[in-house]
Amino acid sequence: MISEIEIKNRITKLRNYLEKFSLDGFLITNKVNMKYLTGFDGDGLLLVTMDDIVIISDERYQIELEQQSINYIIGNDYLKQLMQLVSQKNLIALGFEESIEYENFDYLDENSMADIVPVSNLIETLRAIKSESEIRKIKSANQLVSDVLERISASFSEYTERDLAIEIDYLAKKAGATGASFSPIIASGPNSALPHSTVTSRKLQNHDILIADLGYFVEGYTCDITRTFSIGRTSTEIQQLYSIVREARDEVLSNIHAGLPISKLMQTVNHIFKKYHVEQYFTHGIGHGIGLSVHELPSLSSSETECLEENQVITIEPGLYLQGIGGIRIEDDILVTKKGFENLTPMSADLIEL
Ligand code: GLY
Ligand code: MN
Repeated sequence: MISEIEIKNRITKLRNYLEKFSLDGFLITNKVNMKYLTGFDGDGLLLVTMDDIVIISDERYQIELEQQSINYIIGNDYLKQLMQLVSQKNLIALGFEESIEYENFDYLDENSMADIVPVSNLIETLRAIKSESEIRKIKSANQLVSDVLERISASFSEYTERDLAIEIDYLAKKAGATGASFSPIIASGPNSALPHSTVTSRKLQNHDILIADLGYFVEGYTCDITRTFSIGRTSTEIQQLYSIVREARDEVLSNIHAGLPISKLMQTVNHIFKKYHVEQYFTHGIGHGIGLSVHELPSLSSSETECLEENQVITIEPGLYLQGIGGIRIEDDILVTKKGFENLTPMSADLIEL
């Protein structure tokens, strides 16, 4: 549930943008963005003008739509309904999301009485800065998944990767999660060297290294947590690699605060990995924004020119992957604050020896 006040704040920010860029309407086609602006989670389109907000959907959602306060239109041809609205309201310049499907763009291009203006990442940029209630929901998702992982870790060796993924999924949903934001990554032994391994029927065994990477939604918001476990004692080599990843992770976290250039995050990790001559084994990005989606703004690419902002929530996920030896990843969900950060992931980041 999103409060009326939050909806109002978000719509006001959108309207400020429309005013600034001389648009008199904005079409939202991205489902997650529509949910962010209205709380409506069904299929449809959203039109926001300077004095109206209209959801265009179909009969399957009529009862839900009746129960909320935003205007709505029911019809099976969403775009046709939209075109009628655009004409009725005499819109002159209609912004639309650049991520629109080509087929829908083509229809607008052929039929819109208003000029159509592509806009990139407008709502996504608003979504990157979290409100207090959004932070609370991401924190709850983190707590839930951490609890599940801690609870089940003692019995890891009874499972295959696939069965463990199924059991975690069951426990997370039973504990109140509404769904997974990606298929659980349970990568054991040699499979841990594949950063995004898909689960196999491999039975977990003594001395295995195991990466568990999990994201579950609570009240619409997801966490994204990775912990690395060792079933029984692991080799000195793995322990050394783990301590390098841990050092990189701690060093990046210690730098985080609003105003930090985003490119610095990757530079810091690379600096540590280079010190130990292992930088070639870190093969993915340092992290990403999370919230209503598991991957959202801010982008944390090394070529990013922006700085971190207060109340962004990002993952920090350094890892090392050595074919034939194994892989290690530690991933935490981090709230950026004015002076530093808050770690929303309550689990210890030590190598967890079972
Ligand atoms: N933890 C999954 C991902 O970041 O893609
Ligand atoms: Mn991630």
